[in-house]
Amino acid sequence: MEGVAEILLHENELPTRVAALAGEIADAHPDRDRGITIVTVLSGSIVFLADLLRQLPLKTRLGLIHVSSYAGRNRVARGPTLIGTSLPDLHDQDVLIVDDILETGGTLRLVQSAVADAGPRAVRTAVLLRKPCRRDPEPTVDFVGFEIEDVFVVGYGLDYNGWYRNLPYVAALRAGPLGHGMCG
Ligand code: IMP
Ligand code: MG
Repeated sequence: MEGVAEILLHENELPTRVAALAGEIADAHPDRDRGITIVTVLSGSIVFLADLLRQLPLKTRLGLIHVSSYAGRNRVARGPTLIGTSLPDLHDQDVLIVDDILETGGTLRLVQSAVADAGPRAVRTAVLLRKPCRRDPEPTVDFVGFEIEDVFVVGYGLDYNGWYRNLPYVAALRAGPLGHGMCG
């Protein structure tokens, strides 16, 4: 596909790792009857979430939180903004936050603080991808699918300017100003 420089995670390895992650998450929630509430971060997490949900042997319900990260084409470093939520009552619930990628940590800090304000019983966090950034403070992440380099990636839910979410693999975007990430 035009603009895609290199496939980093292939179509067949993503669901395999996600299934293993679902097993790790299930092991961390031994009380199967209690159930968990997933709070998924829109929009980048949706493909990851769809694969994860169907592998999770737990009573599960779903809440949505919409956070905007990159404003527009030039990826100016700006703080994440909460756009909207559709959440069940999280009070006294076991919550699992699901996001696509941990980069600077701004998004997860925002989401974790919004969830904490709702008084849950426990909060865990799963991300599909993690970049090697220095993050201060480092958000707590309990489950990580893949550690990747500091490159801008698209596919499997992740976008550039809204595009490429449908690619069934994770790929680095073309070289040039976008070829490296924002870890700094
Ligand atoms: P953070 O707030 O810097 O940790 O960035 C997390 C959010 O930025 C993710 O939820 C993504 O939406 C977006 N993001 C970070 N890195 C990438 C990337 O390489 N490709 C696409 N989106 C990214
Ligand atoms: Mg995101």
